[in-house]
Amino acid sequence: MSADWDEKFTIGIEEFDQQHKKLFGLINELETSVRQGNSRSVMSKVVDELLHYTLTHFSQEEKTLLENGYPDYEYHLQEHNDLLGQVREFKNNHDAGKSVITMELMGFLVNWLTNHINQTDRKYVPFLQKINK
Ligand SMILES: [Fe+2]
Repeated sequence: MSADWDEKFTIGIEEFDQQHKKLFGLINELETSVRQGNSRSVMSKVVDELLHYTLTHFSQEEKTLLENGYPDYEYHLQEHNDLLGQVREFKNNHDAGKSVITMELMGFLVNWLTNHINQTDRKYVPFLQKINK
């Protein structure tokens, strides 16, 4: 399993492509940390960073979609919030010592991100491109 960025994830909106790349980078960092068997506190920092950056990225996307009157905004928001809920729950369990970060979780994050980019994010691209012409 790899969390490497690939050109096929490019959606064509520079700002969000850069942010998606950074998200892959952070998942990669977490994966490296899992492989190295780092301590809970080190892992916790990486999870925090990932969660924080995910929040930043999601809110920027949401702001753009909302401001431009994107018709599928509610659904998009729902997907973001579902993921955030899962990551927060995971982080709380991890910080409380109730769970460990596994490669399975890494797989879940990479799958979520690639599916979300390729299916849900890609849908807003023609809409935004039309508006910004
Ligand atoms: Fe999104």
